[in-house]
Amino acid sequence: MAEDVVLSAPLFVGLDEESALALVANMTPMEAVRGDVLFHEGEPGDRLYIVRDGKIKLGRRSSDGRENLLAVLGPGEMFGELSMFDPGPRTATATVVADAVLLELDHDELVRWLADKPDVARHLLQALARRLRRTNEALADLVFSDVPGRVAKALLDLSTRFGEQVDEGVRVAHDLTQEELAQLVGASRETVNKALADFAARGWVRREGRAVVLLDVDRLERRAR
Ligand code: CMP
Repeated sequence: MAEDVVLSAPLFVGLDEESALALVANMTPMEAVRGDVLFHEGEPGDRLYIVRDGKIKLGRRSSDGRENLLAVLGPGEMFGELSMFDPGPRTATATVVADAVLLELDHDELVRWLADKPDVARHLLQALARRLRRTNEALADLVFSDVPGRVAKALLDLSTRFGEQVDEGVRVAHDLTQEELAQLVGASRETVNKALADFAARGWVRREGRAVVLLDVDRLERRAR
C-alpha cells in the first residue's frame, strides 16, 4: 500500500513497473518526527525526497524572521528537486509537520536515470509546471483575495491532500498549528483565527485542534473564488 503511494509520485509515472521498482531500490528510506528539519533554505542540496507517509512543510523566512509556508506536502509528493534542475542552494526549508517516512534519492542518481529514461523527465516537467500554476494562483490570491477567501482556499487545498470523508463532511487532519496555518495563508494568526471563527459560526466548518471538519464545501468554494 505504502509502495503504491510512492509509485504514484511524478518520478515514477513514466516508468514501467520493473524500472520503477529498480529506482525505488536505489532510494534510501528514512524516518523523521515532527519538528525535524530535513534541510534549510540556502544550503547546498544533493538529494530529493518522496513522502511515503506523514507531512512536510516547505517554508521561507524573511530577513526580519517572519515565516511563510509555500506548501504542505503529503504521501506521494516530491520535494528537493529544484536545486538539481537549477544547481544552487535550497529554495526553502523542509520541516516535518507529522511523523514521516521518506525516500531519499541522490540528484546524481536521478540525473543518470533521466539520461536513460527521457519519459521520466517529461513527467517531472509536468509536475514542475503544475507547481508553477499553483504558485501563480497563490500569488494572485495574495494580491486580489481577502484573508477569509485565502483561508477557505487553503482549507480546500489541504482537503485534496489530507481530507477524509466523514458523515458530516470532510475531515482534514492538517496537523498545523494556528501559527503554521497563518503562515500558509500569508496573514496574521489573529486574522486567520477570526476568519475560521466566522466560518465556524456560519456552520461551514468545525475546528478540532489540528484538524478541521469541512461541513459545507459548497459555501467554502464560493468564498474561495
Ligand atoms: P529545493 O530548492 O531543492 O529545496 C526546497 C524545495 O521546496 C524545492 O527544491 C522544491 O522541491 C520545493 N518548493 C520550492 N518552491 C515551492 C513551491 N512554490 N511550491 C511547492 N514546493 C516548492
